[in-house]
Amino acid sequence: MKKLLLVALFASLSLVACKKNQAPEETPAPAQTAAPAENTAQTAEKAGVLKGIISPENQKAYSEGQKAAYMAGTHIKDKNADCAGCHGETGLLDDSETQVNEGCVGCHGDLDEMAEVTAKGEINPHKSHLGKINCTACHGGHEPSAIYCNNCHSFDIKISSEGQKPLLKKIDIEKYKNASSDVVENVDVLVIGAGGSGHIAALTAKNNGASVILVEKMPIPGGNSQLAAGGMNAAETIYQKALNIPDTKETMFQDTMKGGKNISNPDLVKVLADNSAGSMAWLTSIGAKLSAVNMGGGATYKRFHAPEGGAAVGSYLVNIYKDVAEKEGLDVRLNSPAVKLIVDETGAVKGAVIDGKHSGPYEIHAKSVVLTSGGFSANPDRVVSYRPEYTGMTTSNQPGATGDGLDLAKEADADFIDMKQIQIHPSIAVGSGTLITEAVRGVGAIMVNHEGNRFYDELSTRDKVSAAILAQPGKTAYLILDDNIRKSLNQIEGYFHLNLAKEAPTLEELAKLINVPAENLVNTVKEYNKAVDTKKDKFDKKPQTLEKKVEKGPFVAIEIAPGVHYTMGGVKINTDSQVINSKNEPIPNFYGAGEVTGGVHGANRLGGNSISETVTFGRIAGAKAAENAAK
Ligand code: FUM
Repeated sequence: MKKLLLVALFASLSLVACKKNQAPEETPAPAQTAAPAENTAQTAEKAGVLKGIISPENQKAYSEGQKAAYMAGTHIKDKNADCAGCHGETGLLDDSETQVNEGCVGCHGDLDEMAEVTAKGEINPHKSHLGKINCTACHGGHEPSAIYCNNCHSFDIKISSEGQKPLLKKIDIEKYKNASSDVVENVDVLVIGAGGSGHIAALTAKNNGASVILVEKMPIPGGNSQLAAGGMNAAETIYQKALNIPDTKETMFQDTMKGGKNISNPDLVKVLADNSAGSMAWLTSIGAKLSAVNMGGGATYKRFHAPEGGAAVGSYLVNIYKDVAEKEGLDVRLNSPAVKLIVDETGAVKGAVIDGKHSGPYEIHAKSVVLTSGGFSANPDRVVSYRPEYTGMTTSNQPGATGDGLDLAKEADADFIDMKQIQIHPSIAVGSGTLITEAVRGVGAIMVNHEGNRFYDELSTRDKVSAAILAQPGKTAYLILDDNIRKSLNQIEGYFHLNLAKEAPTLEELAKLINVPAENLVNTVKEYNKAVDTKKDKFDKKPQTLEKKVEKGPFVAIEIAPGVHYTMGGVKINTDSQVINSKNEPIPNFYGAGEVTGGVHGANRLGGNSISETVTFGRIAGAKAAENAAK
């Protein structure tokens, strides 16, 4: 009904007049009566369809170009535009807002072109690691605009005087307990959550012959994978072999079990380690080259694979997944939260109810459902319910990481494992939600406290390094590195760009800049450089990690503090990625992969194992879901 009314409304309207490469103005001139807008309103009024779709206040606001109507009002008044300019001739809005965004690009240019126009300050709002994203992720047609990036950063950029647009974050699954709809679509495989695991599961299922729909509640895809900085763990890869790194699957298995304090499910860890080189080969087959191999915390050998030059692994990979998905015509639906699983009387999962931003509730009936909805580090209530001691802690996660998928799975009687195991990452930049990748310590940065003294093995596991920082005065620490280390990892320039790093020509000057005793810092560095020579460290840093001295200016400091980073617990799965119920049986047609699942990382995840998990278990879940659908 809603759709039909919109069709009727917009079919009577004409197309927008637009001028390319003009930044949209969001603060309109004082309200005046504008002829084109009046015509639009009158036309629609005559067609008798405006009533009940656009409120009388908004009708007035559109025709007067008031702020209350946001981009819509501004465009109608100032740009000689009308509704069809954004909504198209049919007026049908898909939940991903594809047509609206094509309209924005058609008039203003794509993100690269807009980046040229807005390249005024240090931070360019149209250039980010998020790659190709919808304009409507920030610019609100009928709601206040806001910088999406400021969910994690604190950029001083304004696009609206109306403040922060509330993002779609936590879904109240309880509210949808009885949700249903007569609008039904059928598909072989429904994948819930378009992060790394979701994309991989969906692409794999599609390549295995299944019809697939991938739904995502956020306005941009990518999940936490999009933010992953460091690398992907894999053993016995071609890249390790080329560098003569004597790593083995068995060593990766042992490191992962030990890092997880031996509570991980060894069968899942074995799948992770044994398939890791194959997962790397699959990534290579879709155009990803992770040929830089670094040291990660808790690893015996270098197995943290990253793009050459040290770019962040997550955005690099997710942008490839998005391109492949587009090329292969994968049906990806943004702004489309799954709000309820459809479970039959036998306990088998049969699909889900989706509450699309524009289409409203509808049902997708699927032969297999794959849950890849991510963890819950960005949901402080849920984190604190398991770990009260983490109250008030910052997080490195994207705002959609709220754990709604766990509530969905509960309705299907899924069992849960390791829910209290929540990882604190040692290095979140103080004053922001920006993760300073473990790779910075991997390539040789040391860590000092406010006295200028080292206090722990920088490359120990995250739980131990975090605890050591929290035991220092002020509960923060500084990463200290020199120019050689800086040049070995691209991402470090990014920290300067974000104003998170400080530099000085000498250690003495750096000490002054960060307010630590210069003599201590100089002696600490001298002692560390000696340890690199002798391969003997007073904090038992592994000899193979004592590689680079801190000796060449300018020197760099980044202040860090621990923050909530990863939730190791989640739905229980088996080695076929089937979700297990409370009777310890696989739930028919129901699969899971990635951070929403538990059992792979135990009590502490090793850096680099999450991307590895998304690829390996995403592929298994996608293949098994397609196989099940074909039965
Ligand atoms: O520090 C990091 O780069 C994080 C990596 C990870 O969580 O796997």
